[in-house]
This record gives sequence, C-alpha cells and structure tokens, in this order.
Amino acid sequence: MTLQPVLLSVNGVLRDMTVSQQTSLLTVLRNDLCLNSPKYGCGLGECGACTVLVDGVAARSCVIPAVHAGGRVITTLEGLGGADRLHPVQQAFIDEQAAQCGYCMSGMMVMTAALLARNPDPTDEEIRRELSGNLCRCGTHLEILKAVRRAAELMRSAGGADA
Ligand code: FES
Repeated sequence: MTLQPVLLSVNGVLRDMTVSQQTSLLTVLRNDLCLNSPKYGCGLGECGACTVLVDGVAARSCVIPAVHAGGRVITTLEGLGGADRLHPVQQAFIDEQAAQCGYCMSGMMVMTAALLARNPDPTDEEIRRELSGNLCRCGTHLEILKAVRRAAELMRSAGGADA
C-alpha cells in the first residue's frame, strides 16, 4: 500500500494527512477527522448519503480518492453550521421535521445548500430533480420538499444564498 501526503481544507481548517491512494475522502472525513455527518450508504456514488461540497459543488465523497481532494475546499454538514448557529437549511429541516431515521439527512441538506446557492427560488420540479439522486428509504419526501422550500424562504428573507 503506497501512502501519499495530501493537504485537505475541510470546513475551513487545513489538514495535513497521509493516506493511501485507494482511501476515499469519505473514509478520511469519518475515520480520521471524526466528521460523521457524511454517511456510508452504497459506496458506489449512487445513494447520496456521503454527499459533501467540493469547491461549493455537491459531490459523492465515497468515490473521490482523498488524494484527489488536495487543494480543494471541502465542506461537510458540520461546516455549514452547528448548534450555536444553524445554517438556514439545517433550521428548515428541523422546522419541517424532515428526518425519520436520519441516515440520508446530511446528504439531503448538503445537496439543498448547493442547490439554493445557485438557485435561490427553485420550483418543486427543480427541487425534485436535484434531490432525485439522494435516496430516502423512509419515505419522508414530502417533508423534505417542504423543508427545501422553507430553507429557500429563510435564505431569501435573510438576504441571500450565503445566509
Ligand atoms: Fe456515497 Fe452512496 S455512499 S453515494
């Protein structure tokens, strides 16, 4: 196993890591950095549970080798906001009680943040299309849709997508 150095920028903190070429970004986030919001679901880039932002764009961290994430800006749900200052998307998902088991929630919220950053007023069709690749086995899709709408309202009333 060949190890390689990589400098990761995660949630605003630079992390000097040594990883194998096969190690996924998801594994580094969860196992080395104890950032447990991104979840391991399929491991194939198909369920969305592991979604994080890479340079502001939603990406599946299970299929990104950590060595390829060097020099990119990585943001997990923990980096969007926390208990002391919730991101509007987090607040909206709480307000609408969008979680059932919660396993898909981090990926859903990160996808929502990415959507609203580039489209502050999406239609229901646009929301459905954006989140169609994020699987929810519990079937809380209607609550999730409401939460995304509410997040969009909160962000617009706060004055922009960066709220
Ligand atoms: Fe990455 Fe399913 S765990 S997409």
